[in-house]
Amino acid sequence: MSTLTLRNICKRYQNDNYAVKDFNLEISDQEFIIFVGPSGCGKSTTLRMIAGLEEISGGELWIDGELSNYLEPKERNLSMVFQNYALYPNMTVYDNMAFALKVRKMPKKQIDEKVQEAARILEIEHLLERYPKALSGGQKQRVAIGSAIVRNPKLFLMDEPLSNLDAKLRAQMRVELSKLHKELGTTMIYVTHDQTEAMTLGTRIVVMKAGEVSQVDSPQVLYQHPVNKFVAGFIGSPSMNFLDVSLYRGYDVENQKTYLTIEDHPVYLLEKTARLLKEKGYHRSKVTFGIRPEDIYTEEGKEANPKLEYSEAMQVTIIARELLGAEVMLYFDLEGIQFCARVEPENQTRAGEKLKVYFDLNRIHLFDMETEQTLNL
Ligand SMILES: Nc1ncnc2c1ncn2[C@@H]1O[C@H](COP(=O)(O)OP(=O)(O)OP(=O)(O)O)[C@@H](O)[C@H]1O
Ligand SMILES: [Mg+2]
Repeated sequence: MSTLTLRNICKRYQNDNYAVKDFNLEISDQEFIIFVGPSGCGKSTTLRMIAGLEEISGGELWIDGELSNYLEPKERNLSMVFQNYALYPNMTVYDNMAFALKVRKMPKKQIDEKVQEAARILEIEHLLERYPKALSGGQKQRVAIGSAIVRNPKLFLMDEPLSNLDAKLRAQMRVELSKLHKELGTTMIYVTHDQTEAMTLGTRIVVMKAGEVSQVDSPQVLYQHPVNKFVAGFIGSPSMNFLDVSLYRGYDVENQKTYLTIEDHPVYLLEKTARLLKEKGYHRSKVTFGIRPEDIYTEEGKEANPKLEYSEAMQVTIIARELLGAEVMLYFDLEGIQFCARVEPENQTRAGEKLKVYFDLNRIHLFDMETEQTLNL
């Protein structure tokens, strides 16, 4: 059982700037929480404050209902796995995993049970007699995680544990970590700057920017309903396309619809979108338009998804085509900004050719140009 509350947590190093500012979060038992954000946004600092490796400058840290700001790291009953997993080179895998327990003077038999159990979970039983130098990167990583598991922590903290691994191994370890979380049922907090890792591992994701929390939500909600342009652009790969556009309301005499224009083409918004904008006082102003690559359709894509609501056709000239196995990315310019559309693999459009594209009107995102907050949320 482990719950965690961070209330108005701040960190200032010697210089006056905040590395972490007003961080608020309630973590329930057994959650898999991800801290994600660009380099320097304060992920490691926050994790280290939870671990007790960094002094908390302001705010309250509650672990299982106990105010824990001033507890020693070892009193917090948590295990941390770092990016540079430190294994003792002169000890076998077994001894590496047993080390913390020996220090605690746990009886030999009990140590053996714990190490064997962790080795079974991580599928490294056959490696127990080896030395670290005879292990691959992924195997070393497992041993480091094994050393953390045997301590039976209430809470696991991991700081970019996979970043030293190649792409294939990372993908494999991601699956392993998910399985591990299910099997152990321990609360986990995991730091990464990789949005794919965040999306696949987390039950909830905390998106950070410049020391502050931008949004906390499940992967799906973050993806579909980002609260601002930063989250919208950070989550999802390839990234959401953005363009600053003009917004008009009731200008079109035929239908009194709200619309925006892209290269002089009108894109009529759905009634519900128009209503949300109106509520916020947005008409006849500039806004930032956003659409994800997979929400841009070709004629064939549109026919295959007849139930969606689309914008009028817009003719674009393809400037590049990328085949990524099961999908094709097509690139084109709108008002000088490069857009990416993810289309069906059968699509044969080449660079230099023209193509009609359609936007899924239910998946359009609109942002205030200044505050960058989402307007149609
Ligand atoms: N010991 C320190 N003294 C002063 N400033 C620090 C110290 N450690 C970190 N910082 C600053 O605090 C901010 C947050 O750093 P932090 O290491 O938490 O970032 P991060 O999100 O983990 O980044 P990365 O993805 O690069 O690991 C940065 O601006 C960093 O320069
Ligand atoms: Mg870091």
